[in-house]
Amino acid sequence: MEVRSAVVPAAGLGTRFLPASKSVPKELMPIGDRPALQHVIDEAVAAGFDHIVVVSNVAKPAVEHYLTPDPRLVADLRERGRDDTADRLEAMGRDWTVDIVFQERPLGLGHAVGCASEVVRGDAFAVMLPDEIMGAHTLLARMTAVCRESGGGVVGLLRVPADEVSAYGVIEPEGPLSDGVVAVRGLVEKPAPEEAPSDLIVIGRYVLTVDVFDRIRTLTPGSGGELQLTDALREQAANGPIHGVLCEVERWDTGNPVGFAVAAVDLGLRDPVVGPALAAHLDSLR
Ligand code: G1P
Repeated sequence: MEVRSAVVPAAGLGTRFLPASKSVPKELMPIGDRPALQHVIDEAVAAGFDHIVVVSNVAKPAVEHYLTPDPRLVADLRERGRDDTADRLEAMGRDWTVDIVFQERPLGLGHAVGCASEVVRGDAFAVMLPDEIMGAHTLLARMTAVCRESGGGVVGLLRVPADEVSAYGVIEPEGPLSDGVVAVRGLVEKPAPEEAPSDLIVIGRYVLTVDVFDRIRTLTPGSGGELQLTDALREQAANGPIHGVLCEVERWDTGNPVGFAVAAVDLGLRDPVVGPALAAHLDSLR
């Protein structure tokens, strides 16, 4: 099974981050030493993916600019002896390639993923929601392995308190988890707490077989009036295997300003350049 492409839906206008997101897309705001988008790309490349598909929005030209090689900047950095940064910039095109596709209207996550159907390569692909930053690539790597073994799609899972399930997609597991993996019988998008089939939510990592695009094409509006990826996966689960893998790596949800600030502090503390000074500053505030 060929698994190469990682689709990153990034077409949202980031209204919770206005006014900054008026000109700087939320995905390009720095967390630690890199933009959020780069964290997700680095996770994908470390997990073995070599083709990134960003689903963007024509109102966010900075995303295209970020993803365009800049040999002049690289040469300039090398002249100044900043080879580390130059090497990082040159990884694009060498370690991974990128396609950008555009979602013209905000019709939902299922629709956004469907916009990538023409450029995705291979038999299965990842979907990575860039609001979620992972502390390691091992979750995505494990999910890819489960996809290869089972021949079916895989979703990342997290157990949350019952009163939080209605903000997420929730799975109906076939039984108890075994070594962090479970077969999925069904999925429901944003259920009322009393109707939720479990306390296992779908987080922003998926490895999906390409036949999901056929299910996406026939989607009708679901929760919130949107074309939901969860609904396409529920149809797949009724006709073949879908598995869930429990997330055991650190995870930051940067979709709201508080979560973003927490991630910026946590990951800033791990940056060898600014971490020590940031830690000293936080100590001084106690
Ligand atoms: C989306 C998915 C949902 C999933 C969530 C994870 O929801 O539709 O199933 O649980 O991402 O973050 P959204 O956050 O776009 O409402």
